[in-house]
Amino acid sequence: MAQWEYAPAPESREIARLRESYGMFVDGSFGAGGETLKSVNPATEEVLAEVAVAGEADVDRAVAAARRAYEQVWGPMPGAERAKYLFRIARIIQERARELAVLETLDNGKPIRESRDVDVPLAAAWFFYHAGWADKLEYAIPGRPDPRPVGVAGQIIPWNFPLMMAAWKLAPALAAGNTVVLKPAETTPLTALVLAEICQQADLPPGVVNVLPGAGPTGAALARHPGLDKVAFTGSTDVGREIQRTLAGTGRRLTLELGGKAANVVFDDAPLDQAVEGIVNGIFFNQGHVCCAGSRLLVQESVHDEVVEKLQRRLGTLRMGDPMDKNTDLGAINSAEQLARVRELSDIGEAEGAHRWSPACTLPDRGFWFPPTVFTDVAQSHRIARDEVFGPVLAVLTFRTPAEAVEKANNTPYGLSAGVWTEKGSRIFWMTQQLRAGVVWANTFNKFDPTSPFGGFKESGFGREGGRHGLEAYLD
Ligand code: NAI
Ligand code: MG
Repeated sequence: MAQWEYAPAPESREIARLRESYGMFVDGSFGAGGETLKSVNPATEEVLAEVAVAGEADVDRAVAAARRAYEQVWGPMPGAERAKYLFRIARIIQERARELAVLETLDNGKPIRESRDVDVPLAAAWFFYHAGWADKLEYAIPGRPDPRPVGVAGQIIPWNFPLMMAAWKLAPALAAGNTVVLKPAETTPLTALVLAEICQQADLPPGVVNVLPGAGPTGAALARHPGLDKVAFTGSTDVGREIQRTLAGTGRRLTLELGGKAANVVFDDAPLDQAVEGIVNGIFFNQGHVCCAGSRLLVQESVHDEVVEKLQRRLGTLRMGDPMDKNTDLGAINSAEQLARVRELSDIGEAEGAHRWSPACTLPDRGFWFPPTVFTDVAQSHRIARDEVFGPVLAVLTFRTPAEAVEKANNTPYGLSAGVWTEKGSRIFWMTQQLRAGVVWANTFNKFDPTSPFGGFKESGFGREGGRHGLEAYLD
């Protein structure tokens, strides 16, 4: 039988307006640093650009600039005026959406379909939503009629949603009247620096937003800086713990959004084809580099074989490869380090006795690639069922009764998200009450909205982002 093939549909990289080098953004202007880092396209291993690395002195300068801007300009400014800047930033993100999407895909390795349809629109939506709050803060939190900004915030973000994470952090902080020093991740600094340029383009007063690229040492220098009033961190649980230790006893405020090992629970009455789409979206969206990924599939025993078979058939149709191609479903793993981690945990999964399966697929010769992988015959004690893989790897477990589903779903040190698939509305409500997870999706997965709070329990961190709860983290 003849096979239909998709014609290549690559997005043009010219749109990214890639420059050879990018500076750090302090007090309203871009400048070089001593050292530089190279940002790489993980799909090809090609160096995209050299980026200035911020050192201790740069952190000092940025925090001082943010303090000045907070005291002299941004803090005293009426909320209605701050709102105008946020609306302007949101509109410029929309105007430059294609450029940002292509740049994100080049720097991160995620499919252009996702950066175009998810990351960039959500980044704009975050600014629009919070712009609307800037002059209504006295209504944001019941019983707090006169909320004040916290002051200067240090924000550290990861590489999985570089622009979107920057927007999640910046928009509520700025709406509430705080100023910010933001550190993007070392493997994906480019879109945060274009966002800094957008702040310039929006005439945001100097010092309100500062962006300091660099790796762990830059982040650590920022987190421990005594000039901050608040630290917000998204990333690994280990680094989150370290930051919490650093801040203990200082009186500085902290919010942490850390890892996850979400259960996606499929009951036997669920619409199974729809559930399979949700399972695929839950774990293979963004190559599984998602803190709230549905990485543990809990299937009711009676439909286990049927679900696994449908899932495998569906995975055979996923298209993996050039992230710039508009037909691509699965892009590259973000870095060699992350690929090594995904490989290691998958090898351990096999060694511990789980059954490993991937669809037949050819991986590109260059770049960092890992096929969509499903583990069945998984026990709760297996590391593949306990550790956050942060890659395209699904562990399938079974249950017989709703009570067993709940017990297994909650049997994790994390508590960020969960999914429930069933026809029964009453069971959905019962499950959401039992599950220790910040977000529970019902008959869907990985849905994000600026009006909806997002955040974890237990080792997934504390504090919420989005909605009024997210604003509260930036109000005194
Ligand atoms: P990471 O936690 O090291 O990196 C996140 C951010 O923290 C980056 O901007 C990094 O430069 C910065 N950072 C690193 N060390 C720091 C320090 N000592 N003080 C302050 N900032 C510091 O995460 P990494 O190494 O990229 O990934 C390792 C694992 O962490 C992943 O496999 C995944 O399991 C988890 N992770 C979870 C994320 C989430 O969204 N919850 C995001 C990224 C990673
Ligand atoms: Mg990169």
